[in-house]
Amino acid sequence: MFDDGSKNGAPEKAPPTTTDSGIPAASDEHSLTVGADGPIVLHDHYLVQKMQAFNRERVPERVVHAKGGGAFGYFEVSADVSEWTRAAFLAKVGKRTPVLARFSTVAGEQGYADTDRDPRGFALKFYTEEGNYDLVGNNTPVFFIRDPTRFQDFIHSQKRMPDTGLRSNNAQWDFWSLCPESLHQVAILMSDRGTPRTWRNMNGYGSHTFMWINEEGKRFWVKYHFKTEQGIQSFSAAEAKLMKAEDPDYHRRDLHQAIARKSYPVWRLEMQIMPFERAATYRFNPFDLTKVWPHRDYPPITVGHLVLDRNPENFFAQIEQAAFSPANMVPGIGASPDRMPGSGPTSSSSPSTARAAPCTPTTRTARCVTSTAATSLSMRRTAMAGRRPIPSGLATRPGTSKARRSCGPRPRCTRRTTISRRRATSTAT
Ligand code: HEM
Repeated sequence: MFDDGSKNGAPEKAPPTTTDSGIPAASDEHSLTVGADGPIVLHDHYLVQKMQAFNRERVPERVVHAKGGGAFGYFEVSADVSEWTRAAFLAKVGKRTPVLARFSTVAGEQGYADTDRDPRGFALKFYTEEGNYDLVGNNTPVFFIRDPTRFQDFIHSQKRMPDTGLRSNNAQWDFWSLCPESLHQVAILMSDRGTPRTWRNMNGYGSHTFMWINEEGKRFWVKYHFKTEQGIQSFSAAEAKLMKAEDPDYHRRDLHQAIARKSYPVWRLEMQIMPFERAATYRFNPFDLTKVWPHRDYPPITVGHLVLDRNPENFFAQIEQAAFSPANMVPGIGASPDRMPGSGPTSSSSPSTARAAPCTPTTRTARCVTSTAATSLSMRRTAMAGRRPIPSGLATRPGTSKARRSCGPRPRCTRRTTISRRRATSTAT
């Protein structure tokens, strides 16, 4: 006998699917018609709602990092770090905090092969008691650029060209060759680290320099290194190329299957910690994202482990719509003078908010930030597929769709906005 009273785990009588308001739907098989052969009537509200939901069930894919996958798990503290930070989730040895991790490639679209040569995104959301803490890094300790105004041009050099609709090696190398500070990251990208065998077999880095602050207000500069306990493994260029044809979802599948067979991937978190005052006299700018801190200067200190042990139940709602904001920091963790947005001060949640939650400000909620309406739609799809009712908390709340409309049109061309703002600034000065 199972918990629900059934004999084989399946409910005796499947609960009805419902409208977005949780009201049982009269039928999923037949529209409301005028007589047996007559036209469909407009007051078949459920049909209209189904149509609306289906027609709008895509949210725009991420501008970068579109192809990815992820899983849930936890972070467990293994060393006392209270001398450096007062962050509550790091306060005690043995303390566990739930985590969401999303891995991704940068340039390819959602359908692109995930074994392509590219940096891998390594985005973490810690669901701490002081709010959600997001750490948005890569599988590399450095980045191509150190000034955010180059980012858009860099990404455009990796994307499809406006004239041909094709990606262009010329554009990529044109950008890199004219941007000497990119050499460090290009060298890593062109090594075997550019083609990890699986997401489980790569390291993750916060990449940026961040600040930790302890109970007395004393500050430190820190770098995060998540070292894979599975060991680094890479595809050769030829293997990665072959896998692109064989299985474009290879990395997504690998993570899902590993967790399903209870082979939970683990990463060891090692921190590099620099006293606050040392930054002023260090031999190079420690906030430059194109550089690493040599380990002999700041030996990494193991402080905990990240474990992924739970697959998503609804990929769209939990992974596709996950929204990470580098601005989400908890007390005891802060930004640094690193000029790239991931480190804090100039960062905002706008990219994710624009994509997944147009009118919902990024909030610190118990789940990842999602558009309530969109979540409800995807939950409804799942509910329909599995003949399960929508959890009532996720049904569209009255007024949600009105609130979405009241936001007005979103700017179509942010580039033009930026240019005109720049023009306005230069006129003013
Ligand atoms: C000026 C610099 C940057 C800009 C403008 C920028 C912009 C963006 C945008 C628009 C997204 C898509 C967000 C979404 O739709 O949810 C994104 C995602 C991401 N970015 Fe950046 N980014 C910058 C620098 C960086 C750097 C330096 C790193 C790593 C060190 C990084 C790591 C990531 C990752 C991992 C994601 C995917 C997050 C996810 O899984 O949802 N970004 N970025």
